[in-house]
Amino acid sequence: MLDFLGDLRRTHTCGALRAPDSGKQAVLMGWVNRRRDLGNLIFIDVRDRTGVTQVVFNKERDPAIHQKASTLRNEFVIAVTGKAKQRVADTINKNIPTGEVELIAQELRILNDSRQPPFLPSETVLPNEEMRLKYRYIDLRRDAMQQNIELRHKVSIAIREHLSAQGFFEIETPFMTRSTPEGARDYLVPSRVQPGSFYALPQSPQLFKQILMISGFDRYFQIVRCFRDEDLRADRQPEFTQIDLEMSYPQPERVWEVVEGFLSAAFKAAGHEIGTPFPRMSYDQAIRLYGSDKPDMRLPAMTDVRQAFTSDNLAALAVNPDLPIVAIRIPQVGELSRKERDEIKAMFLAKGSAKLFEDFKRLEKSFPQSTAGIRQEIAAEANDLIVVVAGDGKPGEHKSEGGVKREVKQHDHAVYTAAGLLRIALGQKYADRHGAFKKSGVPANDFRFLWVTDFPMFEWDEDGQRWAAAHHPFTSPHEHDMDKLESDPAAVRALAYDVVLNGTELGSGSIRIHRQDIQSKIFHALGMTEDEARSRFGFFLEALEYGTPPHGGIALGLDRIVMILAGADSLREVIPFPKTARAVDLMVDAPTPVSEAQLKELGIVVKK
Ligand code: AMO
Repeated sequence: MLDFLGDLRRTHTCGALRAPDSGKQAVLMGWVNRRRDLGNLIFIDVRDRTGVTQVVFNKERDPAIHQKASTLRNEFVIAVTGKAKQRVADTINKNIPTGEVELIAQELRILNDSRQPPFLPSETVLPNEEMRLKYRYIDLRRDAMQQNIELRHKVSIAIREHLSAQGFFEIETPFMTRSTPEGARDYLVPSRVQPGSFYALPQSPQLFKQILMISGFDRYFQIVRCFRDEDLRADRQPEFTQIDLEMSYPQPERVWEVVEGFLSAAFKAAGHEIGTPFPRMSYDQAIRLYGSDKPDMRLPAMTDVRQAFTSDNLAALAVNPDLPIVAIRIPQVGELSRKERDEIKAMFLAKGSAKLFEDFKRLEKSFPQSTAGIRQEIAAEANDLIVVVAGDGKPGEHKSEGGVKREVKQHDHAVYTAAGLLRIALGQKYADRHGAFKKSGVPANDFRFLWVTDFPMFEWDEDGQRWAAAHHPFTSPHEHDMDKLESDPAAVRALAYDVVLNGTELGSGSIRIHRQDIQSKIFHALGMTEDEARSRFGFFLEALEYGTPPHGGIALGLDRIVMILAGADSLREVIPFPKTARAVDLMVDAPTPVSEAQLKELGIVVKK
């Protein structure tokens, strides 16, 4: 028999009672977290989102209530009235904040029962993820998930308050809209009243926020859901949340200050102080030093040690002297076994143009002088792991690169990035030995933020055999590079920047193009005809013609920020109702086929 709540009021949450409350009357409500039956005494841990309190049912004091308590099972929902009492010394539970008290039950209402759950929120061993996602409501009851969702709330409130105080208005933009080019596929929504026409769910509010600047709102932000149909990974979800902002008349540095301000507020809300301003590094530098546009700076940078070798050495090593020779150092790894060296070889994902020397000792035997120079240059200590990545292929083979005049040339780039990937893989592999580095987990407060700046404007798209926008086509080129748009697209730098934390890209932004003539030139450089550009972005090109102020902004992934703060290794740990890697919601079972009638109404025929 279940009881009604009636007019019973909760007086305390389950995490509230402390020793000084001893003697007070209390009414607690929550789930049965654990039940221990010792015959005359039944102990129930009652749980809500704030914690657990031990409730005691004593047969000698009150046989009826004891009898009722004996019917309780895991996850029943109860209301207990009783008196708080200090526990005797040897029964104090130091592991929980309420551990010095217990509630002596006087009245028990069973508000609801529960089927035996597929797993218990209090279990320390987790079931497989499929189970967790199918029964997400149970999974979310777990302490860790409750904490992650609370953290997410605190972080987003802190950001909202900070930006509002800085004069930003939170303004909503449509979900049923047109395609925005952010590099993924769109999720489409068919129109019933215009059969054959579709809305696209926004990949970002990019064009709307730019239009808000044209409309005079000056400082806009939104904590907003975005939708992208792309290959999913641990740090990618098909729907995710951006902290999106835009401002009028900013230099990049102004945008960075705003971001540093709200990240400080967010990290503070999570209990961490971070230093600002963040260090800055150009894209080219990031590639040369870290082989990545999102450097994880918790490990030492890489060094080009080509100069340490003589040309004879280089010939003997059969490496290409025109390409970089990169030394990677991972501190305090110690001696490696033969098997471990083989594993490093297997980790090396280079395709074609890079070559690995995983055994530095062997290099030392053959080239003692050069390797001594290298040790000195990279400040290696005895216990450090050193591996060397060099360019493969014959000298001169990679010389011709068309008109490319970038500091880091394409083939150099390939060597740096192959080395960069290996550096991260080694960092992860030897995380235990090198305590400072962990891919996930809050690394002892070691938050290494970084601005990466001066991204290239264009990337060569091999498949399409054309130049593509490296960020998006609304990003402004550097003033000084405008004249190279036609003659040397590869050399054009963009006023684009990323904010990176411990090897994860948190956000991307840019100063935008605010002139219609330049926007048209960029579409042209991207191989879009005037007509194509008009048909896709006509409304926007037109808007640009009505007095558009210079403007710029950025968007950061809220989910990624919370993931790092929570020490989680997947976005699914910080999104209440996430999707699997196949973009499926296992709880509600979406996506699903729809009825023939619905399809007919929409004018859609599904090909089997
Ligand atoms: P961008 O496409 O780089 O830029 O996205 C900005 C940030 O959003 C987060 N993010 C994601 N998070 C989870 N799952 C995903 N699938 C996903 N995709 C992106 C990342 C990323 O850094 N309109 C521009 C911003 C601008 O120029 O102002 C944009 O959307 O943290």
